[in-house]
Amino acid sequence: MDPHSTTRRRFLAGTATAAALGATVSACAPTAPAPAVPGFSHSVASGDPHPDSVVLWTRLDPAGRSGTVDVSWEVATDDTFSNVVATGSATTGGFRDWTVNLVAAGLTPGTRYAYRFVDDAGRLSPVGRTRTAPVGSVDRLRFAVASCSNYAFGNFHAYGHMADRSDLDAWIHLGDYIYEYANPGSGETYGEYRLLDPVTEIRTLSDYRRRYAHYRSDPDLQTLHRLHPMIHVWDDHEFADDPFIGGAGNHQAEDGEWNDRIAAALRAYSEWMPTRLDGNRIFRTLRYGDLATIVGLDRQRRFLWPAPDDGDLYLGREQFDWLDGQLGDVTSSWAVLAQQTTFGATGPNRRSGGWGERDRGRVLSALAPSAADLVVLTGDIHRFHAIDVLDDPDVYDRSTGAGVGAVEFAAGSISSPGGNGSGNGPQVRWTSGDQRGYLLVDLTPERVQADFFGFPDPEKLLVRRPAERWLGGFSSRRGAPGLRQASAPAPG
Ligand SMILES: [Fe+2]
Repeated sequence: MDPHSTTRRRFLAGTATAAALGATVSACAPTAPAPAVPGFSHSVASGDPHPDSVVLWTRLDPAGRSGTVDVSWEVATDDTFSNVVATGSATTGGFRDWTVNLVAAGLTPGTRYAYRFVDDAGRLSPVGRTRTAPVGSVDRLRFAVASCSNYAFGNFHAYGHMADRSDLDAWIHLGDYIYEYANPGSGETYGEYRLLDPVTEIRTLSDYRRRYAHYRSDPDLQTLHRLHPMIHVWDDHEFADDPFIGGAGNHQAEDGEWNDRIAAALRAYSEWMPTRLDGNRIFRTLRYGDLATIVGLDRQRRFLWPAPDDGDLYLGREQFDWLDGQLGDVTSSWAVLAQQTTFGATGPNRRSGGWGERDRGRVLSALAPSAADLVVLTGDIHRFHAIDVLDDPDVYDRSTGAGVGAVEFAAGSISSPGGNGSGNGPQVRWTSGDQRGYLLVDLTPERVQADFFGFPDPEKLLVRRPAERWLGGFSSRRGAPGLRQASAPAPG
């Protein structure tokens, strides 16, 4: 779900709109697409770093191909591949849209690697870069965090800025990586500045595959994928807007069987994303030594694949029971929840809003036996925010941190339009919906700092990438949670 979920349901039909679209698209297209490597037009990607392995991804251009093809891959410690440390091969074909998604194992923890693929004609893919997760004592980690990347709403300049960073351990995307909508004149529309493929709303396996392929033709997104490993959790738009049990807000009878659409979306996702999926299970844990444990969640699960005992639990029964166990077992300094929407209370009574007091309290209680502090990362809402998450609202004092149990940072959006404020409770320390960009989370054993980077929303339509600026930052000391405004970004 997104802000303005009712106002955006616009059917912009007719030739006048189509003409306007054409004019706008030509004005907003990126200036210089990255040169495509023959045979590998969608470049390469990596994701879900473990200490000894990482997911590697590519796609062969399907033109002129049939049957199946073996693709070989290699991982090296240097960009010239003079020291290759792992090799292998994988089979692809039309059965999986010519994509390759494999786990490269036997790697060394906390190490930067180069990787590439070789197709059956001996052609080399672009060289990708990735990084395994560290083990043991870790001094520092940096993650760029993104959400809500609507191609039709503007250029992915914020992805370009993330790609330019040389200080990332990984980048985290909190959902709405693709959107399912149509271009104006071709169906329900949410975003009208860049031309989509297909131009219609996506409903079938072929549609979802084409939409992923189209997104991955974007040069900024390609570069980001090529240079940094990704950790992703989906939200609703990887399927359709606002699922409920048995359907979705953006699924009508003429769209076919809802369960068929879920299956198509899931299959295309599994083919195109550098993620460790276990069937339809995307909630998972990634460990970064003694410093951070990243727990990815799926708030749509109880709507997409409901179980009889889910009740009204925010995560459903199975996932919440799993989360209790994961948080109870955390041995690192920080537990980081990578999840989709506002967690903490936002209302002036300090209790209402977010996940709701009962389920929020369950998370805080599950983590209590560990020595870790909780950092919650939030997507979906198309605005940045920093919130003190309260474990005792009655004694909350923002100047001392009394009553604060965790801290929450919302990642804004890459291109989706901004929402209104995140609530007027005193625990909502900062919020901004009129800038597009991303969040940088910097972790040390002593503190977490979140820095917000972006540019004014209209600048997403510029052909040339606008400069980003530091919008502000907040830190929280380990063992004494509570947000403090930063005077400068954490040094890179
Ligand atoms: Fe969104």
